[in-house]
Amino acid sequence: MERAETEHAWQAAGAERRQAVQALFGSIAARYDLLNSAMSLRLHHRWRAEAVRLLRLSPGESVADVCCGTGDFAWPIRKAVGDSSKVVGIDFSLPMLEVGKCKAVPMTLGTGDACALPLASAAFDAVTVGWGLRNVADLEGALAEIRRVLKPGGRFVSVDMAKPKNPIVRGSSRLVFSVLAPALGTLFKRRDAYKYLPQSTEKFASRDEQLALMRKVGFKEATYKDMLFGNICIHWGRV
Ligand SMILES: C[S@@+](CC[C@H](N)C(=O)[O-])C[C@H]1O[C@@H](n2cnc3c(N)ncnc32)[C@H](O)[C@@H]1O
Repeated sequence: MERAETEHAWQAAGAERRQAVQALFGSIAARYDLLNSAMSLRLHHRWRAEAVRLLRLSPGESVADVCCGTGDFAWPIRKAVGDSSKVVGIDFSLPMLEVGKCKAVPMTLGTGDACALPLASAAFDAVTVGWGLRNVADLEGALAEIRRVLKPGGRFVSVDMAKPKNPIVRGSSRLVFSVLAPALGTLFKRRDAYKYLPQSTEKFASRDEQLALMRKVGFKEATYKDMLFGNICIHWGRV
């Protein structure tokens, strides 16, 4: 897909959005980890650890990481469930999965769409999603799929970008992200792709909209907590 098309990934809907997002992550896969660490000052590891802590995983439990990308959730999950548990990562971008394979992430990687997961129903004790739901064409459909693959009592956690509630913090963050992300993208010769981060965050469902959808598809005890002054939000719930 051409750059002009990936540039508008956040504006598209339905199948067009799916294709644009897939092309976008395919085009930045090789630099994704580096840019992720640069943009978050490596804090993404801390946010992942917190998300996994909220799941209260026990050794032996099975976990699916949806929109797994290059697989960085694999290590904190493995630490919690041990070496012999089933841990599966699903993503629709082959180049992102290839990077994960090269890193030898300790989970089984497979291709699939978050809105039609290639996983059996009621098969997992927990599902994680890291910075994935913001990208899906059908948020309610993806949440319903996640619920479907969870066992009764199974837990779900999602970490993603969010808009700070405080207007002053929101304005400052908007300024920082709208300058920083494309600037880093320029450094890596993909300014168009990195404009996607602030734009997709602006368009993403609010915390409460996501919470309402989680409840609608059947999650109980659904709640969320903010991190990084409300720029990151972790949602979680159980079946
Ligand atoms: C921002 S990256 C996050 C990757 C990884 N979860 C992490 O924490 O670093 C978003 C990932 O979601 C994947 N993705 C977006 N929409 C998807 C969908 N509908 N189905 C499967 N994967 C999807 C992209 O291919 C990309 O790898």
